[in-house]
Order: sequence, then C-alpha cells, then structure tokens
Amino acid sequence: MRDFASGTLDAPPFDAAFLHDPYPVYRQLRAAGPVLWRDDVFQGAWVLTRHEDVELALRDARFSSQRTGGWVKRIPGVDASLQGRRAQAGLEAFQRLFGSAMVFLDGADHQRVRKAMAAGFHPTFVKTLRLEVERLTGELLDGLDARAGFDFIAEVARPLPSRVIGLMLGVDRKDEARFMAWSDDLAAFIGALQPTADQLRAAQRSLLQMVRYFDALLPARRRQPGTDLVSRLLQAEAAGEIKADGELLAQCAMLLFAGHETTRNLLGNGLYTLLTHPEAWARLRADEDGMSLAVRELLRYDSPVQYTGRRVAADLTLHGTLLRRGDLVIALIGAANRDPDRFPDPDTFDITRRAGSHLSFGSGPHVCIGAGLSLLEADVVLRAVLRRWPGLALADAVPRWNGIAGLRGLARLPVSAS
Ligand code: HEM
Repeated sequence: MRDFASGTLDAPPFDAAFLHDPYPVYRQLRAAGPVLWRDDVFQGAWVLTRHEDVELALRDARFSSQRTGGWVKRIPGVDASLQGRRAQAGLEAFQRLFGSAMVFLDGADHQRVRKAMAAGFHPTFVKTLRLEVERLTGELLDGLDARAGFDFIAEVARPLPSRVIGLMLGVDRKDEARFMAWSDDLAAFIGALQPTADQLRAAQRSLLQMVRYFDALLPARRRQPGTDLVSRLLQAEAAGEIKADGELLAQCAMLLFAGHETTRNLLGNGLYTLLTHPEAWARLRADEDGMSLAVRELLRYDSPVQYTGRRVAADLTLHGTLLRRGDLVIALIGAANRDPDRFPDPDTFDITRRAGSHLSFGSGPHVCIGAGLSLLEADVVLRAVLRRWPGLALADAVPRWNGIAGLRGLARLPVSAS
C-alpha cells in the first residue's frame, strides 16, 4: 500500500492552492501510485486517479453507491452538536432522505427509481426544450450591458440552470432565490473533502426545507398532474415504482440540486477556459458548429464534478492493494480526465480533440441522467454569448474559484466587451 498516512510519502496538500488549481496535485498523486490512502479525506479514504481505475469504480458492482451511512456522524464536532432528541431526529431525517436519492442507491432499487425518472430526460424530450432554453438565455443576455461589464456567474451561469430545472420540475420562478440558497448549502457540504459540522448543519436545514417545499406542492399536483417531473414521479409513486416513504421527495431535492450547481460550473468554467484560450475562441467564431465538440473538451479539461465516492462492497485487491469492505473510495474524475495514458497531451485544451471518453458525467449505471440537458444549455449559452459579444474578454486577471473541491466552479467571472 502506498501510504501518505504513515508518512512513507509526502502528501500533496488539499489546500488553497489546490482549490485554485488541482491539476498539479493530481499529477503528484498519479505519480505516487494508483491506489493511495488519505487520512485527510472524509476521515480516511482511498483515492484513485487513473482513468481505467476511476471508470472501474464507477461501473463495477463491487463498489457500492450507498456511501452516506456513517459518513455524516463521523464529521468532527457533530456528536457534540447533537444534543437533544430533536437534533438527533433532524440528523436521522437528513440521512434517510439523503440516502434515498437515486445517486446513492444500488442495484434493483437504483434501476427502479432511474426507470421512473428516465422519460423526463429522454433525448427527444430534451430536444423539445431547446427553444425554451434559447428564450430564457436571450432574456438574461438582453438585460446585460457588456460595455459596462457584468459578472457572468451572477447574471447568467447561476440563474439559467435554475430556471431550466425549475421549468422541468414545474416550480415557480418567484422561489428561485430560495432554491439557489438551499442548493448552495448542499453543494458546500457535498463538495467538501472534509465537511465541517457547520456545513452539515446548513445542508441539513436546507435539504429539509427543500423537501418541505416540495411536500407542499404535491396535493395540487396530484389533483391536477402536468407534464413536469414532479407529476411524473407522482404517477410512478401511484404505480408502486417509487416508494411512498419520502423516496419521491428525495428525488425532487436531488434534481433541484444536481440541476443547479453542475451546469452553472460548466457554463462558468467553460466561458473562462474559452476566454483564456483566444485561439479557441477565434476558431469558434469562425465555425460555431465546432461548439458541441468544444463543450466536450471543456468538460474534460475542467470538470464541474471533480470526484465522486463509492464504498467497497466486498474485499478486493486493486494494483496489489487490499481494499476492505466498507472502505470509502474517492474516484477523482478531474484526475482521470487528465490521465496521459488516455488523453495525449492532457493538459492542453484542444477543441478539436475527440474527448468522448471523459468521465465528467460519470460512467456505468449512475451515468448522469441530466447530461443531455446540460450539453444543450452549454451549447445554447456559449453560442449566444459568442454571437452577441465576439470581443468579450475577462475583466479580472485573477479568477475567483468557489473553494469547493468536488464541485469546481468560479465564484465570480467579470467580463466586458468594448
Ligand atoms: C455539467 C453538468 C453536469 C455534470 C458535470 C454532472 C455530473 C454527474 C456525475 C459525475 C454523475 C455520476 C455520479 C456518480 O456516479 O456518483 C451524475 C449523476 C447524476 N446527475 Fe448529473 N451532472 C450534470 C448535470 C446534471 C443535471 C442538469 C441534472 C438534472 C437536471 C443531473 C442529474 C443527475 C442525476 C439525477 C444523477 C444520478 C444518476 C443515477 O444515480 O443514476 N445532472 N451527474
């Protein structure tokens, strides 16, 4: 075993420099070995960096997606903050809800819930949303003055995915600010390598509020179903495909969260990368149809989701290292996407690269159900920005990253066009 914990190797720190630019650390980790133990990740976890290993962990049933049990309670300071029955009950409700979201289910349970949700993400349905996404994008861009400059994250990357997922779930736009705040609390918790008790409490509060919000919508939606995802899930629940004990609400909260944070960061990281690679920007100006390939390379080059987790379901040996049942495994998607064995010259951003095998949407049974939707949003937004402001440039020399290791994105992206 290659062991940072025992001091046999110098561990590259997951510090502020890492949050700014994780790629040098990934290179060091890859060079140190394929299977590494880190004490400073979720109170202890194996870290995988190679493309083939990350893919294996995502596809192989020996790696379970049920990884939330125990995780929450082991956060330092949580025991001390759990005084009283209400606090205990709140944490249990949080864990139960969290753990019944599709992304944390295995096998038959996972297939059952995924099937219930599939129609809402079918490519033919997603295609029908293009006009709506174009309209929402136009609405946001029309309100901006590029000469004066604007923050692309606040004005476009944050609200657009929120409006799109709001539309799909059939929720009111007036509630948008609340969704974004709840979703931000969940992101800070889910995306932390070492979540704190405060982050846990904020995530717990926000998840429970999100769920209460959806719960209040259900009676009307039952009486008068629409074509939205909540109505679909209610029909699945009535048909016995979704369990009645909160499973539906857990999926709604997961969708609200997944639909916000990830696409926001694809739009933000995407525009930032294009503006810092003027030759790519110029090429796309001349050939806008190169955008769909460019978006795939943007995903590979700076993935909005930098890692995901699994728990070892049965003892197994990987590259000579024994991984025991119950151990946590962190599959570093961001590192796999820069694996030189899979992508020649991996640190070069090349919009003509066929980067189809990037792992930014995961792989295997849990591969992102919203991938088509976010590709659509990125294609529409980046084309629209390019067409409207071909001379767009960064207004700040130094990027401000959000500081969330797992959900890499910019806190601000000031831009202007003369
Ligand atoms: C650029 C945008 C996105 C990225 C990079 C992304 C990334 C991912 C990744 C890596 C996974 C796999 C997680 C794992 O295996 O542990 C995943 C799953 C998932 N994503 Fe996305 N996602 C994006 C957008 C979206 C959107 C827009 C939605 C919904 C509206 C969504 C909903 C989901 C759901 C429900 C799952 C769980 C699928 C399952 O467990 O079967 N994602 N996503």
